[in-house]
Amino acid sequence: MGQSSLQLEAVVLAAGKGTRMKSARPKVLHELAGKPMLHHVLEQASGLGAQATHVVIGNQAEQVRAATPHEVNWVLQTEQLGTGHAVQQAMPAVADDATVLVLYGDVPLASAALLKETVAVAATGVVALVTADFADPAQLGRIIRTDGAITEIVEYKDASERQKAIHEINSGILALPAKLLRGYLQEIERAGPQNKQGEYYLTDVIALAVRDGIAVHGIKAPQPQQVMGVNDRVQLAELERYYQHSLAEALMRDGVTLADPARFDLRGELTVGQDVQIDINAVIEGTVTLCDGVRIGPNCVIRDSVLERGARVEANSTVDGAQIGADASVGPFARIRPGTVLGERVKVGNFVETKKTRIGNDSKASHLTYLGDATLGTDCNVGAGTVTCNYDGINKHPTTIGDRVFVGTNSTLVAPLDLGDDAFVAAGSTITKSLENEELGVGRGRQKNIKGWTRPDRRDS
Ligand code: UD1
Ligand code: CA
Repeated sequence: MGQSSLQLEAVVLAAGKGTRMKSARPKVLHELAGKPMLHHVLEQASGLGAQATHVVIGNQAEQVRAATPHEVNWVLQTEQLGTGHAVQQAMPAVADDATVLVLYGDVPLASAALLKETVAVAATGVVALVTADFADPAQLGRIIRTDGAITEIVEYKDASERQKAIHEINSGILALPAKLLRGYLQEIERAGPQNKQGEYYLTDVIALAVRDGIAVHGIKAPQPQQVMGVNDRVQLAELERYYQHSLAEALMRDGVTLADPARFDLRGELTVGQDVQIDINAVIEGTVTLCDGVRIGPNCVIRDSVLERGARVEANSTVDGAQIGADASVGPFARIRPGTVLGERVKVGNFVETKKTRIGNDSKASHLTYLGDATLGTDCNVGAGTVTCNYDGINKHPTTIGDRVFVGTNSTLVAPLDLGDDAFVAAGSTITKSLENEELGVGRGRQKNIKGWTRPDRRDS
């Protein structure tokens, strides 16, 4: 989906140390909404139709590479000599007629619209620079303007008191023709570090462009959070909340009722039908579809699952890798594990665990049950305390249950096992032999009643 003839290449900076994260994990791999920050950035680049994405790595380079399956050109910056030096490492691989977009591995939330505009402006042969107004601009680079036009960026450490009072900051994100960038970076290298940090500053490109009469267009981020970088875990948590709130808001505008948008977390892709209701503290992970009228109770985790029309998940349940049929009901306190397929109007109640199990329409397992590697037909009733013994310590074995089967309370079904249609298992049975259609299985010791015995606590000692 490239923008017609535009040749776009992205350079993503991710070689820095991330000292303030105080982490064994590289900073850019810390997750936002369940996904490494760097991956957010790489998806932005591919979303823009970048023909190539060059990722500059240095600190913990191997870890970053190993955790990133995206198709990118890895560029090693062995010494972190500054942002200008970092971009320069990628330039040999960048085509001369390309527009280059510079992104940062730790600035994960720039919107597609903002980046698209930036690239479109740069494609006209000028420099496009993303800025933002920060109430507290801290140590970010300051945007210097003369008569409204950007003339340079001054780093905090090099800034005068008057410049430090400026609230418009450099986001770091910029785009410009590769040919210009290449020349300016060479010039910056030749001049040597000219600043307090002794670094090669990418930001010096701005003053050089202005010197040459090339326009520098400032593009202001509509929300400063879009271009906020993450240096420590406090900032990471701030961005997470901001992002979650924007996801929640989009869902509500799409017709979803959220009991409290501040207590909702989406870490993946959620597709919704009409009138979906989600109570507090829901965590949605992976790829999830909630069809019309689905209701999720409080404190539920839903991962990689499809919930059909009218399905309900009651409080404190986990649904993972499952398909939940129309008008089925799960929980409270249910654990639905991968490979579970529930038919229409199925009821899986409290303290029931299912794994690789298909349950036919209108069947019920209402309480305290484990069903693993099992297939159940329609209209079955599985009593409390039923356990499929699917594992013999070496292999897993299947349990197949027909239609209208009744499994009495506290039954142990030792797999492999078949229970035919209309079979009936007496409560408290250990069933090791399959049942034919309509058979009754009783697998328990017969009760003996003993008269005239003496309770231990009433015996003479
Ligand atoms: C830089 C900008 C500053 C801007 C800020 C926005 C410069 C000189 N300054 O500041 O104007 O407000 O970003 O966050 O560009 N990196 C490398 N290799 C290096 C140095 C940095 O890959 O040699 C990477 C870092 O991993 C990071 C990004 O570049 O992702 C920015 O580096 P950082 O040192 O955090 O930027 P600042 O100096 O704070
Ligand atoms: Ca720095």
